Parts: sequence; structure tokens; C-alpha cells
Amino acid sequence: MNKNFPRRDFIKNASTLIAGGLLLPSETLKASNIFGSTKKRFAIVGTGDRGSGMWGKDIVKTYGDSIEFVGMCDKNSGRVNAAKKIMGVTCPTFTNFEKMMLEAKPEVLIVTTVDATHSEFIIRGMELGADIITEKPMTTDEVKCQSILDAEKRTGKKVTVAFNYRYSPQRAKMYEMLRAGAIGKITSVDFHWYLDVHHGADYFRRWHRLRENSGSLWVHKATHHFDLLNWWIDSDPEEVFAYGALEHYGKANSFRGENCRTCVHKDSCKFHFDITKNQRYVDLYVNNESFDGYLRDGCVFKEDINIFDKMNASIKYKNGVQVSYSLITYAPYEGYRIAFNGTEGRLEAWIQEKNPTTNVDYDEFIYTKNFGKPEFIKVTKTEGGHGGGDNLMKEMLFKTGKQDDLKQKAGTRDGALSCLIGIAARNSCDSGKPIRIKDLTTIEPQIQKVYATPS
Ligand SMILES: NC(=O)c1ccc[n+]([C@@H]2O[C@H](COP(=O)([O-])OP(=O)(O)OC[C@H]3O[C@@H](n4cnc5c(N)ncnc54)[C@H](O)[C@@H]3O)[C@@H](O)[C@H]2O)c1
Repeated sequence: MNKNFPRRDFIKNASTLIAGGLLLPSETLKASNIFGSTKKRFAIVGTGDRGSGMWGKDIVKTYGDSIEFVGMCDKNSGRVNAAKKIMGVTCPTFTNFEKMMLEAKPEVLIVTTVDATHSEFIIRGMELGADIITEKPMTTDEVKCQSILDAEKRTGKKVTVAFNYRYSPQRAKMYEMLRAGAIGKITSVDFHWYLDVHHGADYFRRWHRLRENSGSLWVHKATHHFDLLNWWIDSDPEEVFAYGALEHYGKANSFRGENCRTCVHKDSCKFHFDITKNQRYVDLYVNNESFDGYLRDGCVFKEDINIFDKMNASIKYKNGVQVSYSLITYAPYEGYRIAFNGTEGRLEAWIQEKNPTTNVDYDEFIYTKNFGKPEFIKVTKTEGGHGGGDNLMKEMLFKTGKQDDLKQKAGTRDGALSCLIGIAARNSCDSGKPIRIKDLTTIEPQIQKVYATPS
């Protein structure tokens, strides 16, 4: 309890205002919490790049009037303190999650740890009284997925899954056109995602290179793409068949080292990455290696890499839509190609994520009605991370009065169905068999997608 604002005074003041007609009862809740602060109490677990930046520093900068950080936790004590400096906050830091939850008593917990650990913090966070905002993927296997669904029901708390990709203007425009029936009934989708030799390689340097951490890129990366498909197609996935291989990174190469800084091949290796040129990475990772031995500039050719670097899947949806999907991690450039085929036409796009040669401020679609001529549709780009999606998502989550007209907010059902496609694809690669989504958890796929209830 805040000594300067005892609870009984707050109740007395608030009731006086209600009686005087100055505050509605719901506004009294916003007016002050039991700690005497008008700000929502946030804590964060996993204070690495994403946690300290997009969620940490950026929330403090943009939403500091309505949100305060009351606790930060990371298993690396050096990193959590570096993150505290980056964020410019004064809250206590912890390496023990349980202790943070009990002492800091957050209303909202942001989960930005390594993917395979999300479930433990989501579940325990809810049990200890917080609503959750979790980074994607919600989790990495079907058993953990079921435990999250059960815990949300049991605790009555709410999990929001942060699918920032839904918010970038070009993808929102596709959603609007498809929902307006621009191509009639969608019948099939071609969706191909290209990670380049810089961004793609980076997954093989870090913890993501091990399935046990990331669930493989089928889950870690493709969860974004599968969520977009579920949202665009407006139905649930039913069955997945997939192939995957590791040929480019990992043990396929003839030479390797431990990490780039110490490597004898640094002058000749095309994948050499000098982490010391990035001061933020030095502060977060290099300076804190003594605490956990984690090397952010690990070799992309390590023998232990056990994720795929090329992946293809066929996905069948409950409403009959068929999807051809692929992900490649060593392309010369970065972006995606998509085509929605429908009973009355086709909507297609080649979206380049970062190409200095096409330095235009718009993305372009080709929209062709059957028997008609192609129309070119331009969508203005927005500033900010992930095609502007990061900032627009935070506006939706934290600005009061924002309407979710395009159903961009996502909960556990969406979080589950996107990672379940990746889990099914991974299981299919391992077994050589098609995998049914309904065999993985209690979620029964529906012809019409079930949207999260707005909170
Ligand atoms: N939505 C997006 O576009 C996007 C982009 C980047 C990352 N992410 C997600 O954000 C999360 C974090 O990614 P990152 O790039 O910041 O990784 P990172 O390695 O920089 O940070 C992860 C942090 O979690 C900590 N951690 C790991 N296990 C822990 C545990 N058991 N207890 C406490 N702390 C633990 C690590 O020490 C590290 O500081 C991942 O889930 C990733 O998928 C999402």
C-alpha cells in the first residue's frame, strides 16, 4: 500500500466524487489501484531484445502516462539490469519469477522469454493473478498448448497473443478486401516467405537453432504466417502435410567455429557477424555472457543445429480452402509472395520487406476479377518495426477507445491454432504422414473461424 495514499482515503475520495456525479463507477476503477497509482501495473519476464525494446522502452516512452513497470525478470541477472537501464525505469529486477509475481503483484505480465518457456510463465502468471500478453509463438508443442488453454479457463484470466503481423497496413487491406468478397469465395492460397542470408541466418546463430527452444522455424517463425492465413481465410486449419530439410546451415558446411568473435574463419566466412558493431547487443548479450554462457553471435554451421532451413507444407482448411506454403532461410532478398484465388478472381502481391532498390512508400497488389483486367492497388506503408505492425498493435492494446474493426486482437484460440499448424507440420516432417489438427488438442476446428472475445 502506498503510504502517501492510504486505501481508506482513496475509497472515501472516490465515493465523494461518485456521489457528486464527477466519476462514473467504472472510472473509479481506472482512477486508482490498491497501490494508490492510476497507472496499470505491468511486469515483464524475458528482458532480451524484444522485451527491453519493443515492449519495454517503447511502452515507457509512449504509454508511460497510463502504464508503469513494477517488476522485471530474466534468468540472466546482468541482462535484466542492462534492460532496466535501456528502459529507463526504477522498478525492482528479479531472477526468480515467483518472487517477482508475489512481491510486485502486476496486473499484466508480458512474456518475452525463449519460446519453449512461454507456457510456464503464462500459466503461473495467471495463477498468480495477472492477465498475460505473450509474444508469439504462444508455445511450442501440443501438450503445453493444451495446458495454457486449460489454465486460462481455470483461472478466469486473459491471455493476449501479440500477433503484430496482422496490423501492418498491407495485410489489413488484404483482410478488408477478402472480407468484402473481392474475389468471391476463397478457394486456395499460394503463400511463400523468403528470409534473406542476413535475417534468415540470424536464426541459426541464436537459441532458435535448437528445436527444444524454438519448436523449429515451423513454429517460431511460421506461426506469424499461419496466424495470417487463419485470419485471412476466416476458417480453422484441418490437416497439414509437410516436408523440411537442413542443407545450408549446420553440419552441411565444411568448416565451423564456436562464435564469430573467436572464429579462425572470420575473414573468409560470408556469414561472419561482428556483434561488437551493435552497442545495444554488446550491452544486452556480450557483457552478460559470464552469467549464462549464451553467445548471441554463435556459428551458423554448428553441428548441433536441429531445425530445418527449407520447409514446404500443404494445409487444408475446414471450409475447403487449400494452401501451398513455403519458407526459405537463405534467399538473396527478403519478403513474401501471396496469391488468394477465389471463385470470382485473384488477389496477389509481392511484398519486399527491405529492398533498397525499391525505395517506395507503398506496397502494391494486383487485383484481377475473372474475365477482367488487372487493377493495381497501392497501400501506403507505415513507419516502425514489422511493417508498422508493432506500433499499431500497441495502440490497439493500450490506447483506450480503439475499436477492433478488423478483429486484429488475438487470444489463446488463435494463438493455439497458429502454432498447431507449425507443430503439425513438424510432426508431419518427422512421421511422413499428414497430421490432423483436431488430434493435437481439445480445439475442434470450425468452418467459420471463432474470434477472440474483446476485452
Ligand atoms: N513478434 C515479433 O515480431 C517478434 C520479434 C522478435 C522476437 N519475438 C519473440 O520475443 C521473444 C523473445 O525474443 P528475443 O529476440 O528478445 O530473444 P532474446 O534472446 O533476446 O531474449 C529472451 C530473454 O529471455 C530470457 N530467458 C530465457 N529463458 C528464461 C527463463 N526460463 N526465465 C527467465 N528468463 C528467461 C533470456 O535470458 C533472454 O534475456 C521470443 O518469444 C520471440 O519469439 C517476437
